[in-house]
Amino acid sequence: MVIDSRSFRKALGCFATGVTVVAATDGDGKPVGVTISSFASLSLEPPLVLFCLGLNTSNVETFRKASNFSVNVLRSDQRELSIRFASRMTDKWSEVEYVAGEATGAPVISHCLATIECTLEKEYVEGDHVILIGRVQTLDYDPGGQPLLYFRGNYAELA
Ligand SMILES: Cc1cc2nc3c(=O)[nH]c(=O)nc-3n(C[C@H](O)[C@H](O)[C@H](O)COP(=O)(O)O)c2cc1C
Repeated sequence: MVIDSRSFRKALGCFATGVTVVAATDGDGKPVGVTISSFASLSLEPPLVLFCLGLNTSNVETFRKASNFSVNVLRSDQRELSIRFASRMTDKWSEVEYVAGEATGAPVISHCLATIECTLEKEYVEGDHVILIGRVQTLDYDPGGQPLLYFRGNYAELA
């Protein structure tokens, strides 16, 4: 079967996910961030997570060179943050509340459903993406909040 990109996207879009903004700091100390739904847990012992980043995205080299990154899991009312960090806006961080993470210094966005700070452990290039694996250094979460979801190309919320 020939796998065309439209069918690939449609079929994979049936897999509902949460939405995160993954963030790091570039060589000049400036924050970079990208909307990511390919986030997953990888291992409990040791605690590892991963995400997949397109090799053609503008900040891919920053993420590959950074020693740390944060994963910011978005709440149902943080759709604007998802749109902003998936856009080509030049200053994605203007008006975004964030602090330097206490464990790694990676930018941590305020008021997210969960925040996971990682050191970059390993990368694997496969196809047109790179899989970036992080070792969890610290985490924080809201046990009662609601997540932002992504399904069939649209945002959704738990009913
Ligand atoms: C909900 C959602 C999830 C996304 N997940 C990913 C992902 O897992 N990996 C990825 O490389 N791009 C993902 N993207 C696309 C990037 O956010 C977007 O292409 C990127 O910000 C554009 O980068 P650039 O303008 O810096 O090149 C996603 C976009 C949206 C809206």
